[in-house]
Amino acid sequence: MDKGSLQDWLHFTTQEKSESQEEHKKLRFIQRLNIAIDVACALDYLHNDCQPPIIHCDLKPSNILLDENMTAHVGDFGLARFVPPAIPNSSANSKSSTGVGGTIGYTPPELGMGSDASIYGDVYNFGILLLEMFTGRKPTDEMFKDNLNLHNYANVALPDRMMHLTDPILLQERDEHGMKYKVNDNTSSAGDIFLSFLVKVIQIGVSCSVESPKERKRISDVVGELNSLRKLFLEQAYPKEKVISFNLH
Ligand SMILES: *[C@@H]1O[C@H](CO)[C@@H](O)[C@H](O)[C@H]1NC(C)=O
Ligand SMILES: *[C@@H]1O[C@H](CO)[C@@H](O)[C@H](O)[C@H]1NC(C)=O
Ligand SMILES: *[C@@H]1O[C@H](CO)[C@@H](O)[C@H](O)[C@H]1NC(C)=O
Repeated sequence: MDKGSLQDWLHFTTQEKSESQEEHKKLRFIQRLNIAIDVACALDYLHNDCQPPIIHCDLKPSNILLDENMTAHVGDFGLARFVPPAIPNSSANSKSSTGVGGTIGYTPPELGMGSDASIYGDVYNFGILLLEMFTGRKPTDEMFKDNLNLHNYANVALPDRMMHLTDPILLQERDEHGMKYKVNDNTSSAGDIFLSFLVKVIQIGVSCSVESPKERKRISDVVGELNSLRKLFLEQAYPKEKVISFNLH
């Protein structure tokens, strides 16, 4: 794909890139949101429109490819599998025969406990992906050890400590674009449109990556929520009279 993978965009290393390339690799909030929506739509298609449903099993930034228009495509179906048909009265303790797939930092917690891959596992991966995209932190970051993981880290920072959590590139965008609108009061993030959208995205990421598989969001709901957020963001952060000088998709 023309624009490489999401991994290249999220974690470019400054040492090896020239200044201009570095500029080029900065993903704006709306671009990240668009990519998240593309990926959620792809998962929704695999889970709900394919017959039998398909579980991707290895959703992560390096498997998300960007075309010339920055449209995201989910690639690498090397670990993908069909959802097995429900067997009446099959006992719940059937152990996974296929082994634990996926990638460190992205493996759903239930897979380590003998559960089979499931669409809920893909939703977990999507949640972690969303958190990685907007915090700029990899789930394998060395700060995540013992009981601290990306999910908990984001969860405890909500909603008041968004500034600490957010990818510095996004904070830079917020400052440059004058999106620190003062709506309700002068100080709290409640009046800050940009941060309030970030909070909403992070909340979706957190609720997709809760430990209990069945309590995770449904991907079809996620698609709806992200699309509404995108619409609201464009209305509020880029009112119509302003020239939109970058490609929104
Ligand atoms: C990118 O967008 C242009 C203009 O809409 C379109 O002609 C082209 O086919 C798109 N490229 C891809 C890879 O979809
Ligand atoms: C399967 O479960 C149903 C309801 O739980 C029960 O009526 C039926 O006897 C079970 N069949 C077998 C083969 O265990
Ligand atoms: C915001 O700041 C201005 C001046 O700095 C002040 O007059 C106004 O009362 C403040 N508004 C609120 C809601 O605190």
